[in-house]
Amino acid sequence: MKDLTPRKEDLDPIEIASRDEIAALQLGRLKWSLRHAYENVPHYRRAFEAAGVHPDDLKELADLAKFPFTGKADLRDNYPFGMFAVPRDKVIRVHASSGTTGKPTVVGYTRNDIDVWSEVVARSMRASGTRPGDIVHVAYGYGLFTGGLGAHYGAERLGCTVIPVSGGMTARQVTLIEDFRATTIMVTPSYMLSILDAYRDQGLDPRESPLEVGIFGAEPWTNAMRREIEDAFDMHAVDIYGLSEVIGPGVANECVETKDGLHIWEDHFYPEVVDPETGRPVADGERGELVFTSLTKEAFPIVRYRTRDLTRLLPGTARTMRRMEKITGRSDDMMILRGVNVFPTQIEEQILAVGGLAPHFQVELTRQGRMDELTVHVEIAAPDAPEAHRTDASSRLGSRIKEVIGVSVRVNVREPGAVSRSQGKAVRVVDNRPKD
Ligand code: DLL
Repeated sequence: MKDLTPRKEDLDPIEIASRDEIAALQLGRLKWSLRHAYENVPHYRRAFEAAGVHPDDLKELADLAKFPFTGKADLRDNYPFGMFAVPRDKVIRVHASSGTTGKPTVVGYTRNDIDVWSEVVARSMRASGTRPGDIVHVAYGYGLFTGGLGAHYGAERLGCTVIPVSGGMTARQVTLIEDFRATTIMVTPSYMLSILDAYRDQGLDPRESPLEVGIFGAEPWTNAMRREIEDAFDMHAVDIYGLSEVIGPGVANECVETKDGLHIWEDHFYPEVVDPETGRPVADGERGELVFTSLTKEAFPIVRYRTRDLTRLLPGTARTMRRMEKITGRSDDMMILRGVNVFPTQIEEQILAVGGLAPHFQVELTRQGRMDELTVHVEIAAPDAPEAHRTDASSRLGSRIKEVIGVSVRVNVREPGAVSRSQGKAVRVVDNRPKD
């Protein structure tokens, strides 16, 4: 693999500024952001008042712990545009991600927000080893999902030639990478494995591919998977993290020269790690749930957002900004299936909507070749329902889930009492995927 370490002089100076400089910038920006949220979003004014805090109470960074958390439920209650802090006509783009039930979570961007987002994705790509002039194949989905367009604008900003392929048509992905000589690919790690299979199916040696850098994220992946992809393609595989509520991809990224966790772009996103049970911040180095406060966002400022992602904060290495360890899990039961975030509560909603099914269900995750599969085990309501009813309920549930949530699942409609009952907190997700 080529040495693709970026030159120091090509970095944004703040990436390697002193901790004092970073903290001073954060404090100034945090004061602005809290005030902006309080003055322009009724939800934040109410939530701050209920917690007995005012933006003026923030004198130092640690004071942030006095402010209330924001969760998906707050965004749902203010659907669609109630969390926006600027007049609607200043919002030039909207994206959305899965809500836990019903409506999706909607986020918005001003022109300046799109600019900041492009900057942080460009910075992430540079950290990954991509350089101006590179050819970048974007296979993240384009649309309401932030992956495709987020990667696209970042690649343009860095000065690359962007190939906006989006997901799907795996054989064609290979043809385009080969014919256009892409040197960087941006895609979910699981889809990269499908692309690897397609290389082999076409009798091509992936090590001969033009790819030098892969920027993989939107779902958890392991260092074992990194090794597999790096060996198979003779390329660097680097982790990118982000979430719609905070901006999209480009909140944190690994550096190609160290690959030791993801540097958080702390000049725009202020991280905390809290105990998921008590909500109390834990010291750097201790594991817990990642919480973010935006420092510069105009349209959709976010204060202490509970990401539900589990990790820990570590000191900087290749950059002065702190790192987060690779995400090790979630404190809720959200699954990511072929890039789509899926909550069991969304499945429950569809079970109830179909009719004739009992509200007892479990979802089972398995792995078929490279791809994760999801089976919904659910019960027919009537004890002696004819087989035809079961088949019918099964296909209706499958189509509803595909249509409303956007994923194909298998449905197994069973006898009443066949799905194991909860002994307290329901166990909705059974993960039978091989551990790697
Ligand atoms: O997945 C944004 C993104 C797009 C990130 C492309 C990276 C690349 P959402 O759809 O809102 O946004 O989903 C956010 O995905 O809370 C994590 O649980 C998970 N996630 C994202 N990146 C990683 C990663 C995009 N590198 C949710 N490792 C987050 C593990 C990740 N999980």
